[in-house]
Amino acid sequence: MPYPPVIAPHPVTRLRRLRSKPAFRDMVRENTLTPADFIWPVFVMDGVDDETPIPSMPGVSRHTVDRLPDLAKQAWALGIPAICLFPYTDPSLKTEDCAEAWNPDNLSNRATRAIKDAVPDIAIMTDIALDPYNINGHDGFVENGVIVNDRTVEALVKMGKAQAEAGADILGPSDMMDGRIGALRAMLESEGHTNVTILSYAAKYSSAFYGPFRDAVGASGALTGDKNTYQMDPANSDEALRLIQRDLQEGADMVMVKPGMAYLDICQRVKSEFSVPTFAYQVSGEYAMLQAAAANGWLDGDKVMLESLMAFKRAGCDGILTYFAPRAARLLGA
Ligand code: PBG
Repeated sequence: MPYPPVIAPHPVTRLRRLRSKPAFRDMVRENTLTPADFIWPVFVMDGVDDETPIPSMPGVSRHTVDRLPDLAKQAWALGIPAICLFPYTDPSLKTEDCAEAWNPDNLSNRATRAIKDAVPDIAIMTDIALDPYNINGHDGFVENGVIVNDRTVEALVKMGKAQAEAGADILGPSDMMDGRIGALRAMLESEGHTNVTILSYAAKYSSAFYGPFRDAVGASGALTGDKNTYQMDPANSDEALRLIQRDLQEGADMVMVKPGMAYLDICQRVKSEFSVPTFAYQVSGEYAMLQAAAANGWLDGDKVMLESLMAFKRAGCDGILTYFAPRAARLLGA
């Protein structure tokens, strides 16, 4: 027997009834946003007790390592479970062989140790890609104008090993080379870092929304050409699923779609096809757009911030990397 129609005709059904008062709206809300949904990306620089604001990301600064323990304490107190570190590498340390990437005492690894000493419980995520250390700004080695894959993967494994040894809890390969997840997982297992997780930037698009980030890490000037031979074509969707599946098979614990707001359809497909921990990165350009409009008085900054973050939850994401993390957590906790 077929069921009767679920929606009886008006006025038996009035869908506005359950929107008519806050108590009803609270009862039937389908998604929630909490500080535990956030991973906070933080830019790190050399120096002492200092910060440098990033002009294209109003409200975001690079911080010296000695200031990170305080920031991590604040984040943890707000209920933010994880911080993701991005180093601003001094141009003099950028080379063709990218050796600074696996230096145990590089900025990122020093930052990891400083936070781990002060706030051992907060999860630290690190970035795996050669671009902050590469003289030409690419995520992989460049040979005769070609971004080479397999030699890059070997370097990424060295980089990941140094990060795990420094105490990183989550490795975030953002480089889009083929085979890096399997190689990183094998390294972690053989080195005894069996509980270090991998959050793969599996579906990472070649996007102009990364512009302000490249300013923040000092890669804008260095980058020659574009990243189209390794990052995804924004026109593709099925390919994202193939990449996610491949990375899961190679040992990724969690997967990411990046950028976020312009790719919510991908988030939804990934979550519904694979039912695995799925994250989105609300990237620098998305942050910059909202902040710029709010600064002009064109949008209500707090409201669009929370609305944009809720959109990720509605799309099926388990969490969001967002520069808004502390501000949103404060609002949500208030
Ligand atoms: C580098 C990396 C990028 C971002 C995170 N890791 C930039 C890029 O691929 O050029 C972008 C983050 C953002 O825009 O907020 N591999």
